[in-house]
Amino acid sequence: MLTIYPIIAGIGIIISIISAVKKAPFFNYLGILMAMYGLLKCVEFVAPPLPGQVILMAMAMFVFTFLIYFSIKEDQFEAFLRPMKTVLADDDKKILRVLIVYIMIPVLAGFITYGKVKPQLAPPTSARIVHPEPPASITFRGEKIKLLGVDSPVRNDTANREKHFEAGKRIYYQNCFYCHGDDLAGNGYIADAFNPRPLPFRGTDTIAQLPEGFVFYRIAKGWTTLPSGSTPWDSSMPAFDTFLTVEEVWQVTYFIYEATGNEPRKM
Ligand code: HEC
Repeated sequence: MLTIYPIIAGIGIIISIISAVKKAPFFNYLGILMAMYGLLKCVEFVAPPLPGQVILMAMAMFVFTFLIYFSIKEDQFEAFLRPMKTVLADDDKKILRVLIVYIMIPVLAGFITYGKVKPQLAPPTSARIVHPEPPASITFRGEKIKLLGVDSPVRNDTANREKHFEAGKRIYYQNCFYCHGDDLAGNGYIADAFNPRPLPFRGTDTIAQLPEGFVFYRIAKGWTTLPSGSTPWDSSMPAFDTFLTVEEVWQVTYFIYEATGNEPRKM
């Protein structure tokens, strides 16, 4: 693993040695703190990385311990404070003072704050179950509907299939296409906004694998009744039982099979 922490530790050690030789305790102190931080971070090469809280506590201890160490002898403490006094009080250091107080410190504070609040885009680690166990029946606006092993009443109504197809098409382009795509390929114009993405109905991986009763259930209930293995909070699939009637849900189900040339799986 390539990280900058060994470099930070190395630079810290070099700074503290040089400044110890040159008798510059303030820079010696900074060098020691830098080296300590780098070394604590390097623990991850030999053991699990230390939690941020532990590093923070250790660093707070180092800050105070070495401050006490450098302030014990009077002349050493005098030398320790000299660079700070020079920057903060000397008349010929005005530009440096402005640079540090008005630019470096605010920029550093802003950088740290940004690091803390920036959204993390790492993908969730657990795999999501795409097709959960289908329920045997559901309640649709208070009415119990059996789904397991049930054939679509719309598909069975062979005389009116044309009418049902047209109705299903209208329902699809009124409610579904902006997610599932005008070509039913899962690439509607707002599809990119969702994770997981709306599923395509073309191809052999989705509805071609499913009995029609299950597809009816997914359209009626959307994400609302998904089991925890399917992380319902991760799905944007709406529940349509409040917008559409039982017949309309069967019609749009029929339409997405017909329009993609897929056959529902038989139970
Ligand atoms: C806001 C976007 C959105 C809209 C609108 C939407 N869906 Fe979905 N749909 C999704 C997402 C996201 C998934 C995949 C996640 C899941 O399974 O819940 C999904 C999954 C599905 C599935 C499951 C397919 C499978 O293989 O398991 C079906 C069927 C479905 N949608 C049909 C429809 C129909 C029909 C409509 C319109 C009546 C519709 N969807 C409207 C976002 C949407």
